[in-house]
Amino acid sequence: MSIPKAELHLHIEGTLEPELAFALAARNGIELPYATTGELRRAYSFSDLQSFLDLYYALMAVLRTEQDFADLADAYLARAAEQGVRHAEIFFDPQAHTVRGIGIGTVIEGLARALDSSEERHGISTRLIMCFLRDESAESAMEIFEAARPFFGRISAVGLDSAEVGNPPSKFREVYAAAAEAGLHRVAHAGEEGPPAYIWEALDLLGVERVDHGIRCMEDPALVERLVRDQVPLTVCPLSNVRLRCVDTLAEHPLPAMLDAGLLVTVNSDDPAYFGGYAGDNFDAVRDALPLDADALRTLARNSFRAAFLDDAVREAYLAEVEAYDFG
Ligand code: HPA
Ligand code: ZN
Repeated sequence: MSIPKAELHLHIEGTLEPELAFALAARNGIELPYATTGELRRAYSFSDLQSFLDLYYALMAVLRTEQDFADLADAYLARAAEQGVRHAEIFFDPQAHTVRGIGIGTVIEGLARALDSSEERHGISTRLIMCFLRDESAESAMEIFEAARPFFGRISAVGLDSAEVGNPPSKFREVYAAAAEAGLHRVAHAGEEGPPAYIWEALDLLGVERVDHGIRCMEDPALVERLVRDQVPLTVCPLSNVRLRCVDTLAEHPLPAMLDAGLLVTVNSDDPAYFGGYAGDNFDAVRDALPLDADALRTLARNSFRAAFLDDAVREAYLAEVEAYDFG
């Protein structure tokens, strides 16, 4: 079994495996524009973030009922458990569903159905993070935020995802202020394809507690200093970065340099059905491609629990599991 870890950067819609996509399409009477799962898998060749997002949003057509969302989340949790995930903070994109006429209650109640039995069935504690689509308007973000209000008891944090370049964090200042007011945690994707300036904005204008991706911070020494000083966690997704061509090859990934700089880095899977692996697969891939020894891998696992939105007693129990892990 892979080292115990928390997964903090995981889009539940990005866990839709081709087999489940076809099963849900059949259940809902939806025709997919692919004849077989093999043909669909062959479409998973991306040139950048947008080329992935186009397929990611298109395939969501198969998600229609509470049970669909429950089945999706349960399948992810089963896979994650096999790879040592003990705690998962799960993103979802409500606007991508409400635009198709699916109620936000259907999405959240469906996901909650799987999450409620996750500790018992899979040994994984969970949180839900509601993301705003940054290529939609600030008004649309505020509308979905208000629509989610009845469900705030189930939601731990807000996040920001989708097409980054041209959609800076500053666009979402108002809704992040409202989220802070409502007592929700705040995270945002920044510095995946976008420039270091977007990471500064996420910190200073949105008040984020974690930065998702954040790899382009390495271009700005003053920003690295700030992130190190405040120990702001970065949820790095190595296989995603290669598949979306943010990094040419895994061997050239900045992860070791980020650790050396003293950044609080974690390793995550992002959209595992599309990018070639779940959390443990990402750990294995960086171990094989990069100069990371057992101490570095243990640091990455420890960081994942340090960066999680957990109560301290639970955090300490997970950290003890990390320290007790034997790489063999
Ligand atoms: N980046 C931005 N938006 C996303 C991603 C990502 O990697 N995955 C799903 N939505
Ligand atoms: Zn992401």
